[in-house]
Amino acid sequence: MQNIPFNKPYLTGKEGHYIYQAVLSGKISGDGIFTKNCHDFFEKLYGFKKCLLTTSCTDALEMAALLINIQPGDEVIMPTYTFVSTSNAFVLRGAKIVFCDSHKDRPGMDEDLIESLITNRTKAIVPVHYAGIACNMDKIMDIAKKYNLFIIEDAAQAIDSFYIGRDGIKKPLGSIGNLAAFSFHETKNIMSGEGGMIVINDEQFFERAEIIREKGTNRSKFFRGEVDKYGWVDLGSSFLPSDIIAAFLYAQLENLNDIQLKRKKIWNFYYEKLKHLETENKLKLPVIPDFATNNAHMFYVVCKDINHRNELIKHLKANNIYSVFHYLSLHKSDFYASKHDGRELINADIYTDCLLRLPLFYELTDADLDNITDEIINFSSI
Ligand SMILES: Cc1ncc(COP(=O)(O)O)c(C=O)c1O
Repeated sequence: MQNIPFNKPYLTGKEGHYIYQAVLSGKISGDGIFTKNCHDFFEKLYGFKKCLLTTSCTDALEMAALLINIQPGDEVIMPTYTFVSTSNAFVLRGAKIVFCDSHKDRPGMDEDLIESLITNRTKAIVPVHYAGIACNMDKIMDIAKKYNLFIIEDAAQAIDSFYIGRDGIKKPLGSIGNLAAFSFHETKNIMSGEGGMIVINDEQFFERAEIIREKGTNRSKFFRGEVDKYGWVDLGSSFLPSDIIAAFLYAQLENLNDIQLKRKKIWNFYYEKLKHLETENKLKLPVIPDFATNNAHMFYVVCKDINHRNELIKHLKANNIYSVFHYLSLHKSDFYASKHDGRELINADIYTDCLLRLPLFYELTDADLDNITDEIINFSSI
C-alpha cells in the first residue's frame, strides 16, 4: 500500500499560469493586480468590509494587536487550546494572556467561562474558530458590548464557514468581530504555501490598517494619489505579501466551491464510517453545534487517553497512514506556564492528550478513505 500522508497541498492547475502573469506584469511586490483580485473576491463573496492580504495569519494577528493598541499589562482572553500565534501576537505588545478552557464536548473555548475572566485590564477577546467550527458569537459579542472589549476572530481555519446567529441570519466567520485573521498556510482549505489575511469590519481601523501593513508609512495613500509624498506616520512592519503569492491564492479561490465540495465529501465519509465507534464508546467524533456550519477543514477523533492515541498513531503508521496531533495547551507551555495564573483547564488538557487529526486533502481517493477507516476500525476491535 502507498503511503497516505497527513496533508498534500492541492494545486488547481492555474497557479503557475497566474504566477507567470504576475511576473510578466512587471509589478511583483505587494498590492499588485492579483492582490486586488483576492481582496475583491473576499469582500464580494463574504461581505467583509475591508480585506488586506498578509504574509501569514500570524502577521494578521500581530497587525490586530497593533491596531487595538495593546499596551503592557493589558489582558487578552483566548482559548489555551490554540496555536502559539494567537497568543504571541499580543504577548509581543506586552499583553498578559488569560487562558480559557475548552468545551467538554469540543475543543473550542467555552464561552460561558469568559465573563468570570474579565478584569478592569481586559482589552480584547480572541475567539478561535477551531476546525472551522464557529464559537458562539452572540454570547461573545454580548460580553464585548457589556464590557467594551475588542473582538478579534482567529479564523485561521475558518474560511467559508458560518455562524447562524440568534436572529437566524447566517454570517461568514470573520465578519462578526472588529477584526479577523485568516491563514492560507498549505495545510488550510485554500492556500498559498504561506499566506494570510486581516479582515477589518470596524471602520475606525481602515486607514491605520493600511499604514501598519506598509511599515508604518502612508504609502498606500501615496499610490492612490491621495498625498504627494509618503513618510513614517505610525508603528508598522512589512506585512504585505508579494503579488506572486496572491497570484497563487487567486487560482485557489477560483476553485473554492470545488475544493469545499470535495473536502465535505471526505469529512462526511469519515463521519458515517466511524460513527458506530462512538456509539460503542471506542472513540469520540467531532461535535458541531446547531449555530455552526462545517467547512471540512479538519476531521479529528478523540481517543480515551494519551496511550490510546499513541497506539492508534502507531497502528496507522504501521499501515503507512500518517495522522497528527497538535496544540499542547499554551497555559502549560515552556514559555507561558510560569506566567499563567494557575487555574486548571482540564478540558483543554484532554484535547492536548487525546485529539488526533486524520488525513484530509483534496486528492484522497475512495480507496484511501476505505483503507484509513478500516484500519481505525481494526484497531478499535482489538
Ligand atoms: C488557530 C490558528 N491561529 C493562527 C495560526 C497561524 O497561521 P499562519 O501559519 O498562517 O501564520 C494557525 C496555524 O495553523 C492556527 O491554527
